[in-house]
Amino acid sequence: MVKIAPSLLSADFADLKNEIIRLDEGGADAIHLDVMDGNFVPNLTFGPCVVKAIRPYTKLPFDAHLMVKNPDEMLEWFALAGVDMLTVHAEVCPHLDKTLDAIHSLGLKAGAALNPSTPEAVLEYVLDKLDLILVMTVNPGFGGQKFMEHQLSKIAKIRKLIGSRNITLSVDGGINPMTAAEAVSAGADMLVAGTAVFAGGKIAGNIKALR
Ligand code: DX5
Ligand code: ZN
Repeated sequence: MVKIAPSLLSADFADLKNEIIRLDEGGADAIHLDVMDGNFVPNLTFGPCVVKAIRPYTKLPFDAHLMVKNPDEMLEWFALAGVDMLTVHAEVCPHLDKTLDAIHSLGLKAGAALNPSTPEAVLEYVLDKLDLILVMTVNPGFGGQKFMEHQLSKIAKIRKLIGSRNITLSVDGGINPMTAAEAVSAGADMLVAGTAVFAGGKIAGNIKALR
């Protein structure tokens, strides 16, 4: 069954504790934490202090999606804050191989994210070090954007690249019940969704609809 990782970006930031509890009770498989630095992406969100503050309210895995220019400097901060997985953008990791090793040596799972304009080939030689690949189906920075259909062929190509490896293929951006079906047919086995999960405050029903 496809896994659903709600993005906290669409949550009520004044009520994060209860939003986390609602996501847990609503059937989420993981919590997707969109960390933005106002540099790699034109938006700012939250850092390790906030992650640490919400960590006690669920046992679900925390996956931090680091949309930052200098992820290498921050890996340990998020490890100490209690995340389970760190996903870095290939575009800002000239030594991606080394960065993935650094994440594993902190005892965490390691993911690599690709902007829509980044070809999947950048992952070819690090596949054996990846626990997750995150295909961005919008330009990162904001929730509520339109799913880029032309990323479906990239998802299918990555599914082939993965072969028999145990790598989660996740898709992030513009996921709704319709685009979810397209992404899964192309090969995704995890969906990140913000807008579609929190719509109308009906978290459990929304997650079910996405599945
Ligand atoms: C975009 C973020 C996404 C975003 C998804 O920069 O990485 O995780 O929150 O939001 P929706 O589901 O609204 O596209
Ligand atoms: Zn994200």
